Amino acid sequence: MYTANEKRYDTMKYDRCGKSGLMLPAFSLGLWHNFGSADNYDNMVDMITSAFDLGITHFDLANNYGPYPGSAEENFGKIMKNELAPYRDEIIVSTKAGYGMWAGPYGDHGSRKYLISSLDQSLKRLGLEYVDIFYHHRPDPDTPMEETAAALDHIVRSGKALYVGVSNYSAEQTDKMAKIMRSLGTPLIIHQPRYNMFERWIEDGLQDVLAENGMGSISFCPLAQGLLTNKYINGIPENSRAAKASPFLTKDGITPEKIEKVVKLNAIAENRGQSLAQMACAWNLRGGKLTSVLLGASRASQITENVASLQKLDFTKDELDAIDDILK
Ligand SMILES: NC(=O)c1ccc[n+]([C@@H]2O[C@H](COP(=O)([O-])OP(=O)(O)OC[C@H]3O[C@@H](n4cnc5c(N)ncnc54)[C@H](OP(=O)(O)O)[C@@H]3O)[C@@H](O)[C@H]2O)c1
Repeated sequence: MYTANEKRYDTMKYDRCGKSGLMLPAFSLGLWHNFGSADNYDNMVDMITSAFDLGITHFDLANNYGPYPGSAEENFGKIMKNELAPYRDEIIVSTKAGYGMWAGPYGDHGSRKYLISSLDQSLKRLGLEYVDIFYHHRPDPDTPMEETAAALDHIVRSGKALYVGVSNYSAEQTDKMAKIMRSLGTPLIIHQPRYNMFERWIEDGLQDVLAENGMGSISFCPLAQGLLTNKYINGIPENSRAAKASPFLTKDGITPEKIEKVVKLNAIAENRGQSLAQMACAWNLRGGKLTSVLLGASRASQITENVASLQKLDFTKDELDAIDDILK
């Protein structure tokens, strides 16, 4: 049985999630890749316990993470039981529903039927009585938002989740959902958008909506799935996400145009005394608009490297201008 590092809270920063009572670590760990049924269990334990030892108290899942879908929740549940059971009250577990999960008309989208059944299934896989944050994973254009909101409100009142959030909602959809949830008496406390140096859409309206509604945010794919590191500069290394079977980052996605920008960004990072991965993490946190950055990893050393970006979060105006010029 694992025993946590006594100094685990010494270096991590924690920030309030919007106007809620929930504090989140500057870095959280996501289990989208590398926690499925075919992945190495000992490596998963090493990543989770190393993250916790660094003060990462927040672990992010979804019903469909695997493959097979659901296997990441099963593996995390096993690790919670075998290694982290004494620390449950120090840990925030998130899960989501919104993408296709089971056959038939009730295993997808945003109906009350789907969200409540899916969370019940997630809790069984996780071996937990409740999750800390439950998200609607993506907007559903066909289910009335009032129904999805009422399901989230019910989930909190039933004690199966302590807080609720949304992911992949536009600024307009988020504003509407936040207002409905407020009218029900259960605040929507967090948004989980894709955000990194290559994908900056949240700067164009969403961040204002989040501030107006007292919501926090946690960025996903902060390293553009590994592109914003120096690993692809000289080709595609074995064991990287692009070399493996993930349909989400394929070899074709690593274009010469992107690598040209990565090389220039890497030079700025080197001048700052950071790796590009560290600079990309620090860039996410600049200006204090995000509550947390949701890291993915294939090995514990990546988590250690990325969390060390906390030692240099500040940017000069010249650095930010140079980065903007490259990204234009
Ligand atoms: N809400 C949503 O719709 C949604 C969608 C996607 C993701 N997410 C969440 O966001 C989390 C993070 O997404 P992501 O995994 O795409 O994040 P990411 O941080 O953009 O990419 C993580 C990958 O980059 C590589 N990497 C990380 N640190 C590195 C380093 N220091 N040096 C070199 N390579 C490094 C690793 O890949 P390799 O070593 O394998 O190359 C790692 O698996 C997910 O686990 C999930 O929880 C949510």
